[in-house]
Amino acid sequence: MSRTEYEALLDQARWELASAADTDELEAARITWLGRKGRIPGLMRTIPDLPEAERPVAGRMLNQIKSELAALLEERRLALAGTSGDEEQEFDLTHPGRTPFVGRMHPITRTLREIVAVFREMGFDVVEGPEVESDYYNFEALNMPPHHPARGMWDTFYTKVPRGMVLRTHTSPVQIRTMEQCDPPVRIIVPGRCYRTDTPDATHSPVFYQVEGLYVDQGVSLAMLRGVLDTFAHRIFGADVPTRFRPSYFPCTEPSAELDIQCVGCGGGGCRMCKGTGWLEILGAGMVNPDLYGFVGYDPENVSGYAFGMGVERIAILRQGVEDIRLYYENNLRFLEQL
Ligand code: FA5
Repeated sequence: MSRTEYEALLDQARWELASAADTDELEAARITWLGRKGRIPGLMRTIPDLPEAERPVAGRMLNQIKSELAALLEERRLALAGTSGDEEQEFDLTHPGRTPFVGRMHPITRTLREIVAVFREMGFDVVEGPEVESDYYNFEALNMPPHHPARGMWDTFYTKVPRGMVLRTHTSPVQIRTMEQCDPPVRIIVPGRCYRTDTPDATHSPVFYQVEGLYVDQGVSLAMLRGVLDTFAHRIFGADVPTRFRPSYFPCTEPSAELDIQCVGCGGGGCRMCKGTGWLEILGAGMVNPDLYGFVGYDPENVSGYAFGMGVERIAILRQGVEDIRLYYENNLRFLEQL
């Protein structure tokens, strides 16, 4: 059984115990889940048949589930006794109240909203775009004609029906869509989900979030880009964190750069997290390549602009000290509750 299947089982048991309307229903739920022939003891009896390596994990999880269900059972038993109308029972004013379980935002949603809030304060509007995108917007209008070698930078899911569409590999297509529809000045950020055929590992997920930024106007400069990104980095990672701009390559920007912050793990001395360099890359950016203006009808003699794009999980990982991106998507409440 996978961790997700254990979680599903636990959820079902929780629900059945919590929804028992009287003591008879509660006793029936107890027998179903914890009785001698119940589901949890039944699963425990299958542990010896599992491969040796899986036995300790399965044993641990089932024991945890068993104790949680026993505690829930007792809690529900007390609650039902309290509402049974039993005249013998006295109301104990000193008994501590039960704290209701309150849900909260997923850590990635929280990070995404914080990023958006920082840019909104700096005057950026929020725009969204489609996740199933045409090749034109995802690649061609971003300066990557068919067979351009830079397309290899993005491992792409292609759709079968309709043919020729892709699951967007980044939020950059929304740059083009917005410039097509609005005259300059344009100052937007684009939060959204992206897809790549990357093999899942500690830093890669096939589905992840990006926030794109674009500002096009008269007289927009690289210094302005640096200023905005520094402000962003200081708001998210702390006012004193050192940053640096490093030359890079993206087809849609020229010149291109990546923004690094000093490693939050070691303070710049070099550690496993920053692979000994003392720096961590947080986003890609650059001045909008004037070739893009030809696709949207802007006059490159009249306007200039900058663009940037960042991975939201990457920012969350660095801020929350999480070691593996996959943890965010396993829906394990015991992990999520710690953040
Ligand atoms: C881009 O996607 C560019 N479109 C960014 C950009 C926009 C540059 C505008 C210039 C101007 P890149 O492929 O490096 O760049 O992805 C940006 C970020 O997305 C990465 O730094 C990383 O944090 C995140 N990312 C990329 N692939 C994955 C993945 N499989 N899982 C999680 N995060 C990912």
